[in-house]
Amino acid sequence: MKIEIVKDKEEMARYISDYLVTEISNRTTLNLGCATGSTFEEVYHRLVEAHKQKNVSFSHVRTFNLDEYLDISDEHPETYKNTMERLLFNHVDIPTHQRHFPPSDEHAEYDAYDEFIRAQGGIDIQLLGIGVNGHIAFNEPGSSFTSKTHKVALSKSTRKANARFFDSMSSVPQYAITMGIQTIMNAKSIVLAASGKHKAKAVKHMIEGKIDESLPASVLRRHDDVTVVLDNAAAKHLKEG
Ligand code: GLP
Repeated sequence: MKIEIVKDKEEMARYISDYLVTEISNRTTLNLGCATGSTFEEVYHRLVEAHKQKNVSFSHVRTFNLDEYLDISDEHPETYKNTMERLLFNHVDIPTHQRHFPPSDEHAEYDAYDEFIRAQGGIDIQLLGIGVNGHIAFNEPGSSFTSKTHKVALSKSTRKANARFFDSMSSVPQYAITMGIQTIMNAKSIVLAASGKHKAKAVKHMIEGKIDESLPASVLRRHDDVTVVLDNAAAKHLKEG
């Protein structure tokens, strides 16, 4: 696990977006695993700027989002699909048919998403945030390390953390569909970003604690190509060096 500590959220976004622009420019195809959440908002903003100001083309990029809410209307601005459109897709040239989300209708075979990703050549770079309880995507503490894309009931702490995007706690969705931990581990490389002191405890456990299903992100230490980008606040509990 490679660890990069930068000053603040802005530097973190610069670091990640510079890396992505280089990869997008150097490759003829790129399968990008996309995360939502506030951590990546500035990263997407910078990608849009790169497209508009430096003519960086995204036409060969295929995206695979990590997760989506289930009990929410398609028109709601906070679905992850609508969020991705607002932040990135409406402003760059990724063709619509190259943007993918986990299947979210009630009767879907959710793990078909794993097969689909594999058939598309697998994910080259997976972007990941981390929840205050150490979740990755919506794999809550206790999720199996061998899980594929599946439906989850969101934990109270996750619903509380995401309540800021909704009018009230009662309108925060209760269920979501998420890539499983195995789905994420199948990515060829992973970039996890965390910013702010509220993430510091989860970050410390992920890097220094036991590799255990009680903290889903700890599994990433078993992957051989993970870069963790932290700002000073998120890194504050880590041992020196
Ligand atoms: C959300 C998302 C995750 C995200 C995490 C952190 O619930 N499902 O994919 O990484 O929580 O979110 P934020 O970046 O807003 O802190």
